[in-house]
Amino acid sequence: MANADRKSDLVTWSPTFSVGIKLIDEQHRELLNLTNDLFNHCIGDEAAERAYFEKVIHEAVSYVKIHFSTEEKIMRKTNFSGYLDHKREHDTFVLTVVEQIRTFNEGKKFNLTVFTKFLKNWILTHIALKDKQYFEHFKRIATRKQDGKLSITREDLNRYSAVRNRQSP
Ligand SMILES: [Fe+2]
Ligand SMILES: [Fe+2]
Repeated sequence: MANADRKSDLVTWSPTFSVGIKLIDEQHRELLNLTNDLFNHCIGDEAAERAYFEKVIHEAVSYVKIHFSTEEKIMRKTNFSGYLDHKREHDTFVLTVVEQIRTFNEGKKFNLTVFTKFLKNWILTHIALKDKQYFEHFKRIATRKQDGKLSITREDLNRYSAVRNRQSP
C-alpha cells in the first residue's frame, strides 16, 4: 500500500463523531486510534502484517467489547427502547471479527488493508447511525461535570431507576 493511500485512509477525530457523552466519546476516539494504528501497519508485506495483526488483535477485540458493554449497560439500565436492536448489531460485528480471526489463524491469505477498511467503515457507520440514536436519551440522564462535558455516573443510573420505580404502579 502506497504511503499516500494509507494517509487517505486515516481517520481524524471530528466533532461530528461526538455522541456527547464524555466516556463514550473517549472510547470512540480510542477505536479510531486503533484503526489508524492498523492502517499505519499496512505496508504490503504479508508476513509483517500477519505478525502485527497477531500481536494487537486480541487486545483490540477486548477494547471493542469493553466499549460495547459500556453502551449496553447504560441502555439496559435506562430502558432504552433501541437496546436489543443495538446489541444485535454489536454482537454481529464481534462474530464477524471472530470469524475473520479464525480464518487468519487457519493460515489463509490475509490482507490487513481489507480488514482495516472493513473495521473503519463499520465503526464510522455504526457511530454515525446507531450510536447517535441513543444520544438524546443518554443526554437526559447525564450530568454536566465541571469540565463542561456530559457524563453518566452510577448516581445518574441509580437516580433513573429510582424515578422509574416511583412511576410504576
Ligand atoms: Fe454502539
Ligand atoms: Fe459505540
